[in-house]
Amino acid sequence: MTKKKTKSVPINLLELEAAARARLDDNAFDYYASGAHDELTLRENRAAFERIALRYRVLVDVSRRDPSTEVLGAKVSMPVLIAPTAFHRMAHPDGERATARAAAHAGTLMINSTLSNTPMEEVVLAAGAAPVWFQLYVYKDRGETKALVERAEAAGARALVLTVDAPLLGTRERDRRNRFRLPAGLTVANMTAVGKGELPDVADSGLAAYFATMLDPSITFDDLSWLKSVTTLPLVVKGVVRADDAARCVAAGADAVVVSNHGGRQLDTSVATIRALPEVVDAIGGRAEVYVDGGVRRGTDVLKALAYGARAVLLGRPVLYGLALDGQRGVERALSILREELDLAMALAGCPDVAAITRDLLADGPSEPASGQRR
Ligand code: FNR
Repeated sequence: MTKKKTKSVPINLLELEAAARARLDDNAFDYYASGAHDELTLRENRAAFERIALRYRVLVDVSRRDPSTEVLGAKVSMPVLIAPTAFHRMAHPDGERATARAAAHAGTLMINSTLSNTPMEEVVLAAGAAPVWFQLYVYKDRGETKALVERAEAAGARALVLTVDAPLLGTRERDRRNRFRLPAGLTVANMTAVGKGELPDVADSGLAAYFATMLDPSITFDDLSWLKSVTTLPLVVKGVVRADDAARCVAAGADAVVVSNHGGRQLDTSVATIRALPEVVDAIGGRAEVYVDGGVRRGTDVLKALAYGARAVLLGRPVLYGLALDGQRGVERALSILREELDLAMALAGCPDVAAITRDLLADGPSEPASGQRR
């Protein structure tokens, strides 16, 4: 007689969420999982991937597969990067250090949030030889913002990722209900020296109040030039869903854009990112790299994103869920699940390497790949 398993190990990224839910209190789990308002965009990011059908190729030698690529000149073992997410120490005491080590172990890179529970210098150190990119929120105090940029550069971050879809924080109703706050002992560690390390204790979400008081909702395209003038780091602009905005970012000096709606956490009913991706890829026409995030949970999602012309995807929540389950090893597990699924998807779609992943694989897309895609 076979013994019935009482507790099963998550075998895919969707199961990882259910497992993490059992480990985290509501304040943390709801913060990680939630989307804005009715969470329609949160669901649509995934649903839109699910609706795309693949026109796979046959009789291609796929006995060897290579999912590696380059992002801003850095070699990565697969086209999956770790999205910037705040507050990793709510998931595990090792927090952002564990995430950085897991990214390095997987041969990829982590984007470290401004709202990290660990100072950026320690995160870069934990990553060892692997690159870390620093995600920037612009504070009302430009001196402090400039100081953050200078610190990131001095610490050895290899790119700046400016997030532009959050002039104010979207309303996550679960956080309002929970009165979201950081557990005792945790701070916005990059900002403690200037007295901006604490979330205010309010009747609502503490993070929404932090954004409204500290961060600058007046930034415009002109500020991209300002940012370029205070750093030599490559500039990635994150949170774009339109061709015209993407073109303006590139004209203002962006080296890459991330098609993102912040994982459905900002403007609810925003367009699903995989739907927005092709117009952005076509508008940029190879002048900058394009990444996409939001709802990537399966290897076939990565394949579809690359087929539309993204150079890489960013992975958000599953990293936090892996961290909650088992620290560094849990994040490694999340990344290896996606790597294995991508490897199989590439094999079954007739793609030995990322160059073979072109738009004609998509049943709903144009039959010919647009010129200059995959940037
Ligand atoms: C985020 N995201 C985010 N983005 C950013 O630029 N700076 C940040 O500090 C955060 N913080 C953050 C916290 C949490 C808990 C989540 C879930 C997301 C957005 C993130 O970078 C990314 O765009 C989405 O998470 C991608 O969607 P998936 O993979 O989570 O569906």
